[in-house]
Amino acid sequence: MSEKKETVGKTLLAALILCVVCSTVVATAAVMLKPKQIAAQERDRAINILQIAGLYQPGVPLEQQMEAVTPRVIDLATGKFTDELTPAQVQEPRKLAKNPELSINLSESEDLAKIGRRENYGLVYLVEKDGQLDRIILPIRGYGLWSTLWGYLALEQDANTVIGLGFYQHAETPGLGGEVDNPRWRDQWPGKKIYADDRVAIEVVKGQAATSGPQAAHQIDGLSGATLTTKGVDNMLQFWMGEMGYARFLKNLKEGEA
Ligand SMILES: Cc1cc2nc3c(=O)[nH]c(=O)nc-3n(C[C@H](O)[C@H](O)[C@H](O)COP(=O)(O)O)c2cc1C
Repeated sequence: MSEKKETVGKTLLAALILCVVCSTVVATAAVMLKPKQIAAQERDRAINILQIAGLYQPGVPLEQQMEAVTPRVIDLATGKFTDELTPAQVQEPRKLAKNPELSINLSESEDLAKIGRRENYGLVYLVEKDGQLDRIILPIRGYGLWSTLWGYLALEQDANTVIGLGFYQHAETPGLGGEVDNPRWRDQWPGKKIYADDRVAIEVVKGQAATSGPQAAHQIDGLSGATLTTKGVDNMLQFWMGEMGYARFLKNLKEGEA
């Protein structure tokens, strides 16, 4: 009887030691790999920004390519640059939007992108050429069918003509909403105009975009079989290019008052 007790006790002790050893190994690995993970995320972010802005050169060191891209913090309410927070502090909108002091709650009618709260500060990226503003890269996000799509929109110096749009993170269905990553769909974006006068005119339509007439400059084909993702992309552009998003900043930038 006592022999049996000892065996059960030893088994439990062995299991406990194994648990402690395994959890220590996993926790240590997670802590040690964190800097590598962050570096990989940074690399990924840089590649996405460069690709969407049409600047990516495979084979050229990323750090060198990113020298041309200046991150700037903007106050979304005033549409002006600010030094109140550093680029590192506003890099994760997810975190800012959770902080009630650094974000605002959006009413249902305001929340076209279905993000719940909007951070007060945005991190935009500017590219200069020969001392002049050449490209503007803006982070955008919004809900599709299954997930929030995270991406960037790159504009020419006129703050109106699209250079490219792309998403670096989403969980839409491959072959349906996931077609936002299809290069053929993405190829429709360059050259499209965001604004007509001061109105957000860019539109991702269900079905085929207009090929002639005034709307042709603003319309993009919807994704077939993925109306909800299509609507999500359309809504997020209405939101981020509108007054709650970058409209004020882009207007200030054009007028030299950012
Ligand atoms: C398994 C499954 C995955 C789907 N994934 C998506 C998706 O990622 N995006 C989307 O808009 N619709 C998706 N749909 C379709 C939607 O439920 C809906 O039917 C569709 O958006 C309507 O688009 P349509 O009017 O172009 O047919 C999916 C449907 C199924 C059954």
